[in-house]
Amino acid sequence: MAIGAAVTRLGREISARHRDGLVIVAVLKGSLLFVSDLMRSFTIQPVVDFLAISRYAPDSGRVRIVKDLDLDISGRDVVLVEDIVDTGLTLGFLLGELGRRSPASLEVCTLLDKRVRRILPAPLAYVGFEVPDVFVLGYGLDFAGRYRNLDMLIAADPVALTADPDIYVDQLYGAHSRGSG
Ligand code: IMP
Repeated sequence: MAIGAAVTRLGREISARHRDGLVIVAVLKGSLLFVSDLMRSFTIQPVVDFLAISRYAPDSGRVRIVKDLDLDISGRDVVLVEDIVDTGLTLGFLLGELGRRSPASLEVCTLLDKRVRRILPAPLAYVGFEVPDVFVLGYGLDFAGRYRNLDMLIAADPVALTADPDIYVDQLYGAHSRGSG
């Protein structure tokens, strides 16, 4: 996938709609690489803040905020930046949380949209790529903390990863790089 071209396009789209400024809210940790490249592609100057969430269980939609925003977003134009929207449950939680803080506007930008798995409708204003029902790793996306720093996106086998989370490490990082990250 041509990540760079997609990020540049998203940066232009968001900049064109937000000439008067905006707050970028990035969801840690998955959006780490994406938001840093996205920030560099803007032709406007946004402010950025971070939310960190933790999931109680996969696909449960039960999420809690483990690091909240430093900024007050009331009356501000906000773009929430996500790595991937899958079932939409996490996004639904986040939009509820942020919506209660009365932003002037609240849009969502996601690098990846796995819309075949959607449970909750997700209002996505900016989408990098639509992906099929595959497990994706790299460019911020992890399995058990691994593979986030890959400068590419790969489709991985979740069954193999569950059996051995390091299964792709030798292939992707070289033979001497085992260990969690
Ligand atoms: P949702 O609540 O089902 O939409 O899940 C969104 C979250 O699940 C993302 O922010 C990721 O942390 C994780 N996730 C969903 N699909 C993938 C994937 O293919 N690779 C890595 N993480 C994923």
